[in-house]
Amino acid sequence: MKRRVKKSSILVLIFVIVVVTCLIWYTINTLNYHKTYQYKLRKIGYSKEEIEIMDELKDNTKDYILSIDYNKDITLFIKEKYFIETNLKDYLEYYKENDYDITNVVSIVNVKANKEWYSDTKKTDLSKGHLMLTNKFNYLDNSYNSDNMVSVSKQYSYGENQMLTKETFNAFLNMFNAAKKEGLTLIINSSYRSYEEQDEVYNDYKSSRGEEYADKIAARAGFSEHQTGMAVDIQTYGSTGATFEEFDEFKWLSENAYKYGFILRYPKGKEHITGYEYESWHYRYVGVEVAEYIHNNNITFDEYYAYFIEKN
Ligand code: DAL
Ligand code: ZN
Repeated sequence: MKRRVKKSSILVLIFVIVVVTCLIWYTINTLNYHKTYQYKLRKIGYSKEEIEIMDELKDNTKDYILSIDYNKDITLFIKEKYFIETNLKDYLEYYKENDYDITNVVSIVNVKANKEWYSDTKKTDLSKGHLMLTNKFNYLDNSYNSDNMVSVSKQYSYGENQMLTKETFNAFLNMFNAAKKEGLTLIINSSYRSYEEQDEVYNDYKSSRGEEYADKIAARAGFSEHQTGMAVDIQTYGSTGATFEEFDEFKWLSENAYKYGFILRYPKGKEHITGYEYESWHYRYVGVEVAEYIHNNNITFDEYYAYFIEKN
């Protein structure tokens, strides 16, 4: 009898220990799960699929998402090709207040065009060499000049004293010769412009047509790519800015310029990203690799720079 009692109380004891252990284990697990982003995101309404998409984000981005109401657009932004995590808040704000689609909002915010042009400006990062960015937010000092400039021979240009960086001119020559073989003539209409020359160009437009107009077609001094020595305005016999598009030279450049490292810098339909009206004549040297990417992916240099150069 005594032995039996002993045996059953041992069994009860084991049972109690197992139950208590399970309870502790369950409680610890539940408490831990409640601390996870997965649980917290689920609680404010995100689906398993959405949470999976958010998985790669940094903790502070997840904390930000938790601090705002459920927003179905967040994962749409994350899935965008040029999504930059630190811009998420700005994407959501800009999207709410404007009519652009998600892809355009990503581009606009990445290049900072959600801000007023010429606000929040900073010095061009010269260390990027032929990939330096000069736009309405990045400027060159009035004393900046590339120390690697060459004169453009008159046979390639209108007017005297045209200059480009050596690298840009060599690339232009290759492009010129290739076009020539097809019976086409590329003529440099404008190339390097000093800070003072750009100031004159801008102020001429400003005094004749007003600031709003001037800002759409010319850069303020310091903010022009022409000062880098890596921009060329190209024309051909008989063309003007307004008509260049109708010439075979333009068509050829559209299909071939990237092979020589040049991109059309201010394309049609990208005015809200570049801040400039479409310019069929303005080409920028960025090197073959980058030009090819920009050409194939139909993005602007501003977008390329924001995603591939500045972000890293
Ligand atoms: N026309 C271009 C934007 C410049 O002035 O640099
Ligand atoms: Zn130009």
